[in-house]
Amino acid sequence: MSQEAIDKLLHANQNWVEEELARNPNFFNDLAHGQKPEFLWIGCSDSRVPADRITGTKPGEIFVHRNIANLVVHTDLNMLSVLEYAVAYLKVKHIIVCGHYGCGGVRAAISRNNYELLNKWLRNIKDVYVAHETELLSIADPQLRENALVEISIKQQIRNLMKTSVVQKAWHSGEDLTLHGMVYEVANGRLKELIKYDKQTPLPEVYRFYFDED
Ligand code: CO
Repeated sequence: MSQEAIDKLLHANQNWVEEELARNPNFFNDLAHGQKPEFLWIGCSDSRVPADRITGTKPGEIFVHRNIANLVVHTDLNMLSVLEYAVAYLKVKHIIVCGHYGCGGVRAAISRNNYELLNKWLRNIKDVYVAHETELLSIADPQLRENALVEISIKQQIRNLMKTSVVQKAWHSGEDLTLHGMVYEVANGRLKELIKYDKQTPLPEVYRFYFDED
């Protein structure tokens, strides 16, 4: 029964291979030689927000990390490993944190429902909410308030990236690296840039690490 769904995926994969080979017989051979993506994407796991489809990027062009509500949590070894590999080894030029309106993670975080294990992850969003509560409560419409929290959280995740030694080290060694906060509208497919941070963006001193040469 459910095998049918899986067979559909495998069949679609065969079709895709044939289409790519028809366009370029060396497509897979070229990819097998390595990757040199220009972008690291940190996005939501939501199935409606596929990083490559919505950005028109092809295999080899975008390095992807996704988790619930596109969070940059400083104890998340998974995210940090992806970040370090992308920045220090692949030398990506842009890191994009992409959130989206209608995010189930954001909605769950402000619902006060108990999601057991998930509470620990969603706490990160609750903390962002509380830090901006006055601003958020001034928005009467609950949907607009939720949208505002989606945007505020994206900006917070970009600031969290700035606080990592990985990003600071790249900037310190003169790497060309820019951080972009983007939001995606599931209802119309549009992606828009909310903020852009680079090495000139101020960061409180206590977050700024010394490096060997200092
Ligand atoms: Co989401």
